[in-house]
Amino acid sequence: MQVYVYSDPNTACKAAATIFASTLLEKPDAVFGLATGSTPVPMYQELARMNREGLIDFSQCRTWNLDEYVGLTGDHPASFRYFMDDNLFHHINIPYENTHVPSGVAADMKKEAADYDKAIIEAGGIDVQLLGIGNNGHIGFNEPGAEFVWETHTLKLTENTRMANSRFFEKLDDVPTEAITMGIGNIMQAKRIVFLAFGKAKAEAVRGMVCGSATPSNQSSILRMHRNVQVFLDKEAASLL
Ligand code: F6R
Repeated sequence: MQVYVYSDPNTACKAAATIFASTLLEKPDAVFGLATGSTPVPMYQELARMNREGLIDFSQCRTWNLDEYVGLTGDHPASFRYFMDDNLFHHINIPYENTHVPSGVAADMKKEAADYDKAIIEAGGIDVQLLGIGNNGHIGFNEPGAEFVWETHTLKLTENTRMANSRFFEKLDDVPTEAITMGIGNIMQAKRIVFLAFGKAKAEAVRGMVCGSATPSNQSSILRMHRNVQVFLDKEAASLL
């Protein structure tokens, strides 16, 4: 695990964006695993800028997002599909059909999860997986618990996560109680992982990830077992290391 500490999130995001950019230059049809949330927004803006200025080309790129709320359609402003369209896909030259976000409204969620895993494998696996982290150590929506769940699955969100994400909704009651997420196995099978965390609220979880032993009570701690993880932090997220 390589850990880089930057003065501020924008600088960290610019550095992280260079990994996605250089991957695209080497492999134009690269498969990216993507994340939502506040953390990656400056990185997505940087990638959109590079694309606009003709430095990188997304026309053959394929993406699979980590997660989605169960019960929200893609046109709901708090859905992760809406977020990705709004923050990245509508600003780069990626063919829309190359972008994948799990459906939160599939009639058969078990089939949706199994099909999602199958599609990633058929695409050749994820070349670079982007990750943020929850205050409780979650990656994707893999919440703290007694085990690591390997495959894409649905789960009940913790109150901690619902509260943290309520800022994207009108009120706490509107935050869905369930989500579909890639599993820890999908993440661990990525060839390379780019991990971002900013702010004091993430410092304890980041300490558990970097300094602790692998435990499902901090799901991010499994990343210590991956051979190619680069961690981009600001000073606050790194303050307990
Ligand atoms: C989002 C995701 C989550 C977020 C995490 C941090 O697709 O998988 O694990 O990365 O909840 O969210 P922010 O960046 O909003 O603090």
